[in-house]
Amino acid sequence: MSKQSKKGRAEFSSSFGVIAAAAGSAVGLGNIWKFPYITGVYGGAAFLFVYLGFILAIGLPVMLSEFIIGRKSHRNAFGAFKKLAPKSLWQYIGILGVGAAFMILAFYGVVAGWSVDYVVTALSNGFADQSPDQLAVMFTSFIESPVQPVLYQLLFMVLTGAIVMLGIKDGIERNVKVMMPVLVVIIIILNIRAVTLPGAGEGLRFLFHPDFSKLTGEGVLSALGHAFFSLSLGMGTLITYGSYIDKKNNLLNTAVKVTIADTLIAILAGVAIFPAVFAFGIEPSSGPGLVFITLPNVFQQMPGGYIFAILFFLLLTVAALTSSISILEVVVAYFHEELKLKRKIATIFATALVALLGVICSLSMGIFKDYTFYDLNFFDLLDWISANLLLPLGGLFISLFIGWKFGRKKIRAEIENGGSISELMLSGFIFLVKFIAPIAIAIVFLSGIGLLKI
Ligand code: PHE
Repeated sequence: MSKQSKKGRAEFSSSFGVIAAAAGSAVGLGNIWKFPYITGVYGGAAFLFVYLGFILAIGLPVMLSEFIIGRKSHRNAFGAFKKLAPKSLWQYIGILGVGAAFMILAFYGVVAGWSVDYVVTALSNGFADQSPDQLAVMFTSFIESPVQPVLYQLLFMVLTGAIVMLGIKDGIERNVKVMMPVLVVIIIILNIRAVTLPGAGEGLRFLFHPDFSKLTGEGVLSALGHAFFSLSLGMGTLITYGSYIDKKNNLLNTAVKVTIADTLIAILAGVAIFPAVFAFGIEPSSGPGLVFITLPNVFQQMPGGYIFAILFFLLLTVAALTSSISILEVVVAYFHEELKLKRKIATIFATALVALLGVICSLSMGIFKDYTFYDLNFFDLLDWISANLLLPLGGLFISLFIGWKFGRKKIRAEIENGGSISELMLSGFIFLVKFIAPIAIAIVFLSGIGLLKI
């Protein structure tokens, strides 16, 4: 799926390859594990609506900005700014991104490890005849144990490292092309089962009928953070992937397709989960275990549930893998191009460091759970800092860079590439990245961390 450009740098070979890679990065645990559980924590539909607003007004323009920066510079997240704005402070955006990549991948690998464990449990028919309470206890005692989740996390990180080491995506996109559609089909089947459960209506109301009085400042900040997290924005993932996109690609079109795919899958995951949450009497705000506790209940209640359970957790693992490689790639491309390490060495080094941080994350669920900071254990802390602080900050600077520094002519050239874009569209995009995105991010950010009262 990849080819060498004339300058010797790897490139995606087709526009489908680009979309598969970028959508593979965007669609992952963020959609299926995190989106339902934080929607549950922050009260349902009102959170969803705010999230959708952020996706449109901020996510999409920032995604296009990242693609532009990556393709124009042909560099990693740090090198891109160094090349486009030499000797300026802008390059530190890239450093912020590399830091965020470490933090995200550390806890991401832990959750992906849970998913691997659930494949194994599903294979041995371990969900059968368990009550909702028993399934909840099973999940909690598993993630708190000191050995098994750590081993699965390490296994997942080794897989991630191995794929990244193989270079720019040869095997992976070929797989993603098949796996992603299968995942979507399974989620749709789960949707049908979920909405026909007795009491499903309450779940759908929770997800789609907003009660804005439930919305808190913290909820709005989390919606913004999650918009970045889910679209893989704010830390240079799509700058790095953009650097492998060829000149002919229509970046706006790619950004729109990736955004739509990501958003649809999150909503489908919500529709699969919330009716079941209410039907089985699970607390919607029960946190990171929501998917792992709710769906096994559903699998038990459907014909062929044994097979669906295996397939679902297998595909969830694959979806996590196509995201985790994109996160690791940010670090590896940086180590390789800026610190001049061989790609192989860079990959081993980065994978080992992240895996180590991941072990601490995993243990913070159990034996280290009393070590907290503002009531957050290490796992939650990394999640909170990266999604709610680093990604929005990264997004703020990226939109400022395109809006104020890059220049209208160059923006036009990158978006048009041979075709044409109307003045109105171009001005609309520039207005969004120049004013709307930075101001909105700044307000949400400052009020979310308590520095601004509105
Ligand atoms: N977007 C991925 C998901 O939703 C996670 C991710 C975050 C990937 C940041 C890359 C960068 O699972």
